[in-house]
Amino acid sequence: MGFDQNLGVAAFRVGGLGVSTRSVLAPLSGVTDLAFRRIAQRFGAGLVVSEMVASDEYVRGRAEARLRAEGEGISPHVVQLAGCDPYWMAEAARLAEASGAAIIDINMGCPAKKVTGGYAGSALMRDLDVATALMRAAIAACGVPVTVKMRLGWDEASLNAPELARRAEALGVKAVTVHGRTRQQFYKGGADWARIAEVAQAVAIPVIANGDVTSIGDAFACLEASRAAAVMIGRAAVGKPWLVGQIGSALAGRAVREPSAVEKTEAAIEHYQGLLSLFGREIGIRHARKHLAAYADAAREAGAGATGAERLALVTTTEPRVALAILERLYEAAHELRAAA
Ligand SMILES: Cc1cc2nc3c(=O)[nH]c(=O)nc-3n(C[C@H](O)[C@H](O)[C@H](O)COP(=O)(O)O)c2cc1C
Repeated sequence: MGFDQNLGVAAFRVGGLGVSTRSVLAPLSGVTDLAFRRIAQRFGAGLVVSEMVASDEYVRGRAEARLRAEGEGISPHVVQLAGCDPYWMAEAARLAEASGAAIIDINMGCPAKKVTGGYAGSALMRDLDVATALMRAAIAACGVPVTVKMRLGWDEASLNAPELARRAEALGVKAVTVHGRTRQQFYKGGADWARIAEVAQAVAIPVIANGDVTSIGDAFACLEASRAAAVMIGRAAVGKPWLVGQIGSALAGRAVREPSAVEKTEAAIEHYQGLLSLFGREIGIRHARKHLAAYADAAREAGAGATGAERLALVTTTEPRVALAILERLYEAAHELRAAA
């Protein structure tokens, strides 16, 4: 059953849009494909965000960018745009809205050289005037809420997330996500949730805290330290697309349900088949490998799952029927072992 945005039973709001839970799925390039986002949303993620989409490539119609921005079957659909040119940002925001996006998110956090070298992603935190021009362009171009995802700053000497968030709010940005690391940390060290509180104090719009939230306990601790409105979960949800919804339930004080072995099996199979149909057989199989490895690892964490040989077969086979046969038994095995214990 979906969440009715018009009933107003929102856990928090992004502009006029109600979000059903305080737990959202992060954008992960190469990971949060359409099939994955659909499944995470069905399991209760409040929002699911597309992989970052290069705004110029998207507008020029490059197939890969279009595929990343795809949101069929997702509601509300969030498209994350990357770029450094207000013209392309505006055109991309317009196109994303016309294609069904309910929220446009701007990437100001990606540390990759390919992105920062092009002066996008977290490099924007070094030039707040360019960042401002991009936000202004996107807001003027579309009628849906615009949000921004950032880091704490470029490095320890320039922790300017509160200032960027203040500028964003003044321009009309409706929410900001803060990954509690600097760009220079990349993914090293731990995310500093307390530093995110400085952003939450600086603005009245919702702040979504991100970084290293891997469990229900982490989510509570992160919200307490950050004073944020919601948590965003990335890597911990790979292989466990139900985790984001479970965390949302816990934050709402609802009982947390572990999906049955059958539901998990169906989700993994739906994801695999979804990838084959999205990307075609050859690329789909390649793209699926990291997900299949993660499903196998998550099943093992839960009690047993695939043997080493089965995991290897999952990530190397070029035969969908081989992968499907292993997936069929993945959670059953874990289930049986738990039942026998
Ligand atoms: C493989 C990978 C791809 C990512 N791609 C994106 C992206 O496209 N856009 C973005 O804003 N952040 C991206 N991130 C950053 C995540 O959204 C998130 O901020 C980061 O992983 C910290 O959250 P986590 O500890 O819950 O994973 C990516 C991270 C990883 C590991």
